[in-house]
Amino acid sequence: MSAKRLEGKIAIVTGCGSSAPGWGNGKATAVVFAREGATVIGTDANLEAAEETRKIIESEGGRAFMYACDALDSSQVRAFVEKVVQQFGRIDILVNNIGASAPGGPVEISEEMWDAQFNINVKSAYLACKFVLPVMERQGKGAVVNTGSISAHRYTGKHQVAYSASKAGLVQFTRATAVMYAPKGIRLNTVIPGLINTGALKAHADRYGVDYDAMSEGRNKAVPMLHMGDAWDVAYASLYLASDEAKYITGMEIPVDGGIRLTTGMSY
Ligand SMILES: NC(=O)c1ccc[n+]([C@@H]2O[C@H](COP(=O)([O-])OP(=O)(O)OC[C@H]3O[C@@H](n4cnc5c(N)ncnc54)[C@H](O)[C@@H]3O)[C@@H](O)[C@H]2O)c1
Repeated sequence: MSAKRLEGKIAIVTGCGSSAPGWGNGKATAVVFAREGATVIGTDANLEAAEETRKIIESEGGRAFMYACDALDSSQVRAFVEKVVQQFGRIDILVNNIGASAPGGPVEISEEMWDAQFNINVKSAYLACKFVLPVMERQGKGAVVNTGSISAHRYTGKHQVAYSASKAGLVQFTRATAVMYAPKGIRLNTVIPGLINTGALKAHADRYGVDYDAMSEGRNKAVPMLHMGDAWDVAYASLYLASDEAKYITGMEIPVDGGIRLTTGMSY
């Protein structure tokens, strides 16, 4: 029997669909939050994917409401937040989960893709915070959990400089904003997923012409625990940071990575 760690909370989870069949980090987070008693307000550019998450939550007896909202369109984000406040009266939790990676070093990556990476990985969180933080400030309480990546902390064996730089930007955005908002009762933290086997992994491999099975094998071997994590691992770390159990923790990162950040990536 669940302890209902988020009973009565109104929680926004962005990107709560999954861009491919299976579980994404936002999708699992939305389901775990609902199981813990939160009313989940999900957004996704792909409403169909978000609706699938809603159906799963409702089939388990939870409460969820989904909205189509492009996280990069400031007027859509503002209208979405206004609607949530009108309908539910408050916002206790915001999970900024939207993000994506693109390959390439500084020479190979196009300027357009560089900008797109910063938009999806940093601007999406900035825009959501821009409209949600004033609501939390009026309440005198709130928790924001941003989804980073180990790429923010180290080279991961893959050339993806824009992803690394933008996720590092997200981490520092979170830390600096956490200090500003600490006196107002609002906490901001980042989960740092390592190599996670979400549905998007296969879609990503197909998009860039990479052999999925070989890539999965390589990713499993690279982790000290000898396997990738799953979306539930990320969801449970987000749950902790979003809950009152983490009431004295702000501006921090929780790696969810099977130990990979601590290795050199070499074996002798
Ligand atoms: N899968 C991994 O190995 C891994 C590792 C580290 C970090 N992460 C991070 O976890 C997060 C989620 O990853 P995932 O693998 O579950 O991805 P995913 O692609 O399955 O989920 C992301 C969701 O965001 C939505 N989305 C994308 N752009 C949007 C926009 N502009 N507006 C609204 N919705 C939008 C997509 O439709 C999708 O449903 C990302 O921030 C990612 O960088 C993933």
